[in-house]
Amino acid sequence: MPERIPIGADHAGFEMKAMLAEDLRKLGYDVEDVGSHSSQPSDYADYAHVVAREIEEGEVNRGVLLCGSGLGMSYAANRHPGVRAAVVWSPEIARLSRQHNDANVLVLPSRCIDDATAREILHTWLNTPFEGGRHVKRIAKIENAE
Ligand code: RB5
Repeated sequence: MPERIPIGADHAGFEMKAMLAEDLRKLGYDVEDVGSHSSQPSDYADYAHVVAREIEEGEVNRGVLLCGSGLGMSYAANRHPGVRAAVVWSPEIARLSRQHNDANVLVLPSRCIDDATAREILHTWLNTPFEGGRHVKRIAKIENAE
């Protein structure tokens, strides 16, 4: 069964989301587009919580979010236990977010990167495994806020 990947964006990321959703479909993923479904102004947290909740509840393993800077989406998604949402602006950061941080949400700053970079980031992020080892205990400590 193909892996289901939820993807969401506000108005700033709406067009780039459509392009990446199409890419994901071509790669064989079961894409769940949680919106926005238009370029009308909308609130990034509405989409971030939908995607992050699916990860928190174990329904999916990873997801993709886009907004203008990537920041609002990451703030909202990272409120959910077990979610590690990484704002990524280069293929190198995409690789590190997976190898060292086991990022399970890719957040793209649509107003700060071009389409070709977004594609390369997405592909690198999807295909880079977590390194484990010394990073396991560091990731565990992220949840220890108290
Ligand atoms: C929308 O104008 C913009 O504020 C939003 O996409 C995002 O960058 C927020 O963090």
